[in-house]
Amino acid sequence: MNETSWQKFQEYLLYHEELGLQLDISKVTFEQEILDQIETRMQTVYPKIRELEGGAIANPDENRMVGHYWLRRPELAPTFKIAQEIKTTVNSIKEFAARVHQGLLRGEKDKAFENVLVVGIGGSSLGPRFVADALGTAGDKMKLYFLDNTDPDGMDRIFNQLRGKLDITLTVIISKSGGTVETRNGMEEIRRLYQEQGLEFPRHAVSITQSGSQLDRTRTKEGWLKAFPIWDWVGGRTSVLSAVGLLPLALQGIDIDLLLAGAGKCDEITRNEDTKNNPSALLAAMWYIITGGQGGKQMVMLPYKDRLELFSNYLQQLIMESLGKERDLAGKITKQGIAVLGNKGSTDQHSYVQQLLDGPDNIFVTFIEVLRDRNLPSPKVAEGSTSGDYLQAFLLGTRKALSQKGKDSITITMTEINEFSIGVLLALFERAVGIYALLVNINAYHQPAVELGKKGAEEVILLKNKAIAYLHKHEGQKFTVEELAKVLGEEGKVETLFKVLQHAAHNPDHGIRAEKSNIRELFGITYSTTG
Ligand code: PA5
Repeated sequence: MNETSWQKFQEYLLYHEELGLQLDISKVTFEQEILDQIETRMQTVYPKIRELEGGAIANPDENRMVGHYWLRRPELAPTFKIAQEIKTTVNSIKEFAARVHQGLLRGEKDKAFENVLVVGIGGSSLGPRFVADALGTAGDKMKLYFLDNTDPDGMDRIFNQLRGKLDITLTVIISKSGGTVETRNGMEEIRRLYQEQGLEFPRHAVSITQSGSQLDRTRTKEGWLKAFPIWDWVGGRTSVLSAVGLLPLALQGIDIDLLLAGAGKCDEITRNEDTKNNPSALLAAMWYIITGGQGGKQMVMLPYKDRLELFSNYLQQLIMESLGKERDLAGKITKQGIAVLGNKGSTDQHSYVQQLLDGPDNIFVTFIEVLRDRNLPSPKVAEGSTSGDYLQAFLLGTRKALSQKGKDSITITMTEINEFSIGVLLALFERAVGIYALLVNINAYHQPAVELGKKGAEEVILLKNKAIAYLHKHEGQKFTVEELAKVLGEEGKVETLFKVLQHAAHNPDHGIRAEKSNIRELFGITYSTTG
């Protein structure tokens, strides 16, 4: 490192002892003048953040407040009722987890619970899963499993591990809306598995959902073990510190008070309205500078720590679902977003880092360095160095190589991985996303486009049902997809018909078979019932 960069390093290194965090932006190319200009814009953002934290409507589409920061400091909530609900919920989570751990709350066969199956998707899975993996130890009080898709084989992989153990498995169904199809399917499949094993699902089930949702109605009707709330002012992707994350993590044995304390402390420090002393704002400012305020570069997350491997997965949703927006708050086309990818170092140096260095100039890297290697001393493995020395050397080496290639990087240094520091990390990025969204004037708290895919899926299911019903009504007859589309009056959907019948014929579930007249002929295949 030459003297100039050492000076820049010292000048821009942001260090917060209380957070156990350093943020190094010295490997980003920018002039102080640009930072000054952004500071001027930031001064228009800070009052808006204050308003949001005070309970202003943050998501105009859904006319709702967004208050994940109240989860870690209930006293900041805009009403006494909200503050009380947060506190009561955290207490009841701790009490519930303690009763499960002590074997006071048991399953139908009067056995203590040992496993937790979490069924949820998106914000109702990614955060808890990341934290569970980051903080998990051999001494965990319960083993967590996550089911987050409607892939039958994916479900079987989990069910096969739980088969024969469902009497000691607590299932937590998480859905804020309470109507998410993938989660409903997962719930119905696990319900059957309990039944097959002679167990009543409700006696092993807990829900986390909004009051009055479909899921809430089901659990009330069936009398599940327990229900925990999620409120409309908590967004899915910022729900990890609501019951969504706190319940599974408390069951795992994680100290949720410390997790909340870390996030709360980070919130406090990132309320500083002087950008150079506010790590979330500084991160957002760097994203703005690097990507040209328009998502011009992709963010590659490279934590050099196995425990943080799922962080990029979690961030992908937090950042891309929040910032990936077609229109700004005024309704003008803006096409915003920052693409996020990455896994962990140094592993990724043996896969795609080659392209980061030599390929197109369309990326920037965020390194995460963790100073404490492990709890015990490490052996010297070679050249008088530990494995941890090598891990750091690989990070520094890659960072230097990127700089030499003219590519920007940001480095976050954490003292160690524990409940507090993971809380800090969660809040650091949640707040950076919120600030960046205001910088580019978009609504970070809705996801209008993903609704299109859901609507499309409903249409596919309707068409598949129509086609299969027709085939069963005409047992023994064979139809090509074109013929079927015609008789169904669905000529405009012949390709979808081709796809759904091909899928149906590859599975025993709908009694459909495919027949080829010619081995090479794909489009002339006829479909009929298996009879
Ligand atoms: O951030 C979001 O709002 C989404 O990713 C949701 O978390 C996801 O769609 C799951 O929704 P729900 O919790 O309602 O099942």
